[in-house]
Amino acid sequence: MSNFPLCIIFAFLAFNLASVIGAENKPPPTPNADTTRHAFFVFGDSLVDNGNNNFLATTARADSPPYGIDYPSHRPTGRFSNGLNLPDAIGEHIGAGPILPFLDPALTGQNLLNGANFASAGIGILNDTGIQFVNVIRMPNQLDDFETYQGRLIDLIGAEKTKKLINEALFLITCGGNDFVNNYFLIPNSLRSLQYKIPDYVPFIISEYEKILTRLYELGARKVLVTGTGPLGCVPASLAKHSMQGECAADLQQAAGLFNPQLVNMVSSLNEKIGNHVFITVETNLVSLNFINNPKAFGFKTSQEACCGQGPYNGLGLCTPLSNICQDRSAYVFWDAYHPSERANRLIAQEIFNGTKYMKPMNLSTLMVMDYNIA
Ligand SMILES: *[C@@H]1O[C@H](CO)[C@@H](O)[C@H](O)[C@H]1NC(C)=O
Ligand SMILES: *[C@@H]1O[C@H](CO)[C@@H](O)[C@H](O)[C@H]1NC(C)=O
Ligand SMILES: *[C@@H]1O[C@H](CO)[C@@H](O)[C@H](O)[C@H]1NC(C)=O
Repeated sequence: MSNFPLCIIFAFLAFNLASVIGAENKPPPTPNADTTRHAFFVFGDSLVDNGNNNFLATTARADSPPYGIDYPSHRPTGRFSNGLNLPDAIGEHIGAGPILPFLDPALTGQNLLNGANFASAGIGILNDTGIQFVNVIRMPNQLDDFETYQGRLIDLIGAEKTKKLINEALFLITCGGNDFVNNYFLIPNSLRSLQYKIPDYVPFIISEYEKILTRLYELGARKVLVTGTGPLGCVPASLAKHSMQGECAADLQQAAGLFNPQLVNMVSSLNEKIGNHVFITVETNLVSLNFINNPKAFGFKTSQEACCGQGPYNGLGLCTPLSNICQDRSAYVFWDAYHPSERANRLIAQEIFNGTKYMKPMNLSTLMVMDYNIA
């Protein structure tokens, strides 16, 4: 947050812009009365927020150009991407209708049947993660919102059909990265870093994450993709701040390296407790490391430089209308200092559906055809 004043100024600018363009930044959702289609529910942080923060007075937002430049509307929507984000790239393949942010006033009537997105940029597993962004929807509140949503759906289609829709739906939850980037490592001697060494902090946040997943299960979720953190030390923001010669930042890589395997273990023992494969982990860290170690093999020009930004690796500050913007956005793994480009998101989605290496205990194609007893 070396550019905090800029961040604040920009946020006010963005907030005003949002009120002008907010209403027309999404294509109109298709009403969908077919309840046999899969609904899709999304929880988490900026990697999966599709516009909830547009409705909040927060500095964590992506609602001004050039965000959304490759989105079908070519307008910013609140997604932290040049185009589609990961939930969009997954949603395209599961026959879910377009899902709206929970805070979008259009999330009523038939639109409720498609599911909803509860994610909020800036949040983490811990309540004290992202406090610098002021108003964000923390995990416990995202789950409260999901309960509110269920109440509305019950009013529309009744309790029994609601339970069925929720039980059969696909869920995606993505959080944890900010507990390092926007909490532990945010400033030297952060409160959490004084309280815990990294090898103790990781099990602590994993145990808090288990409580979140357990509540999601209690609220009816039965098919849940849980992504690990990305390669935190290799994102352009980390390279810009810590890297001498393009090497990934060691402390953040160590953190991700501890977090992801412990997440896999926690999820696997949670599934055992439940007695079913409710939670599926996606080792996004390793999927993305493939592009990062060998970008050319995936048709990328670079995995180090962000497409939109400024400073070394285009990794400093925010992506704004004044930033450097690359010509060929599909040649970049990273759109901005932290977030993958649309093309990288599509490749991660492919891995989620059809991959064999990074999906535990099964990939999404397999999960979607499984018809286990979901009661
Ligand atoms: C986070 O906040 C919620 C209430 O919003 C509370 O129930 C929960 O215990 C808090 N978590 C921690 C670890 O303090
Ligand atoms: C997964 O593989 C199937 C069969 O090859 C293909 O039709 C489908 O498009 C793939 N899905 C994704 C998301 O790549
Ligand atoms: C992943 O998906 C493919 C189909 O696209 C399937 O053949 C394969 O067995 C699956 N792998 C696992 C580990 O589930």
